[in-house]
Formats: sequence, structure tokens, C-alpha cells
Amino acid sequence: MIEILPSILSADFARLGEEIATVERGGATMLHVDVMDGHFVPNMTVGPPVVKSIRKATRLTLDVHLMIANPDPFVPVFAEAGADLISVHQEVCPHLDRTLRMIQDAGVRAGVVLNPSTPVSALEDVLDIVDFVLVMSVNPGFGGQKFIPNSLRKIRKLDALRRERGLQFAIEIDGGVSLDNIAEIVNAGCDWLVAGAAVFHSVDPADTVARMKRAAMEAGYLRV
Ligand code: DX5
Ligand code: ZN
Repeated sequence: MIEILPSILSADFARLGEEIATVERGGATMLHVDVMDGHFVPNMTVGPPVVKSIRKATRLTLDVHLMIANPDPFVPVFAEAGADLISVHQEVCPHLDRTLRMIQDAGVRAGVVLNPSTPVSALEDVLDIVDFVLVMSVNPGFGGQKFIPNSLRKIRKLDALRRERGLQFAIEIDGGVSLDNIAEIVNAGCDWLVAGAAVFHSVDPADTVARMKRAAMEAGYLRV
């Protein structure tokens, strides 16, 4: 199923509940929450208490993207806070297999994230256990950056591996997604498209989600 996931990073945090209700009205069914620690990435955002509050405010599927240097101890904390999906970066997980299983044991779907410079081949031996793979199409840390086109090649590669090996994991993209590049991203094989600035910095975020979702689904129908 193709989805647009609004990223609250570009929302107005003082009106977070309203902002979430707005994108829900536009047809979003999943919400992307960026957690940053100021170590792995040069920025800081929100932690477990905010995820807990969001959980109470919405029934949207919560996709928690951990951009933190030491994710393992926080997996149970975010699971408890109400995350439905948790993703960790390949670059900070020396025991990636263990971390992914830990996420799943906590009753949460497990994803692994690749920075723009990390090759798809680094995931070869976990692809059969992940629920989703997130391809960063910007260097993580900030919203509103320019899309890195090489990420399309990585998505094609993941999609080919998925078919070849008969696997079911979803492919997600994060960074610089807008109405202008949705079709090529979906054509490459992507299922879930995260969008921050394109949604929350638009004049009418509900309408933008609806339009992005329509564009993604139209491109999806043409995909074989
Ligand atoms: C960046 C974050 C993204 C961010 C994307 O490190 O992981 O989720 O919100 O923002 P846009 O869509 O504005 O590039
Ligand atoms: Zn993100």
C-alpha cells in the first residue's frame, strides 16, 4: 500500500495536535516522528514523552525514526510510549540483527535506515527479517533539504532484491519529497513517502497530503 507520511519535524510544535488532525483530514494514515539526539545528527528534536502525547491524540500509525547514536536502550521506551514502527540507522548498530529482533519482540514493526552514503549491500543479511527499509534521500538532521537523486538507484536495488528473494518488506524514503518527484520515487519501487516541509510549509497541508497521496497512488497503479 502506497502512503504519504507527514513528518512532524516541520510542523508547529506549539499546535502539534491540530497539525496532526489536519494531515489526518487530508488522508494520512501514518505519521513520521523524527527523534534526534545531537550526537548522531547535528540537531535535537523530541523524545518519548512527546510520542506518548501524540499516541493519545491520534490513531494514526506512528513511525518513529531514531536518529540517535545508541538506540538499543530506547527501543522498549519508545515501544511503551506507543510507537507502531521503529527504525534504527545501520550506521550506529554493530549488532543490527539483535536490535531489529529486540524491536519486534517489543511488539513493534522494525525498520533499518540507510544514510545516503551507506550502500544497500550493508543490509544483505537482515533483509529477510526487517519489516521495512528506510532510504534517506537527504543527510539526516534537518527538514527542507534538497533530494539526493542517487536514492532512487538504491530504491530500485532494494525493490529488485525484494522480488528476487520473494520478501515482503516495505520500502520507505525520507527527505526532499515533494509533488515534483513523487512519481519517479514510486516508479522506482517505493511504498512509503515521508514529507515534512512539502506538507507543513504549504498553504493548505490537508489538501497537500491529499494531492500527494493521489499522485503517489496514480504512479502506483502504473507500476507492475
Ligand atoms: C530529516 C528527517 C526527515 C525530515 C524530512 O533528517 O529524517 O524526516 O522531516 O523533511 P523534508 O520532507 O522537509 O525533507
Ligand atoms: Zn525522518
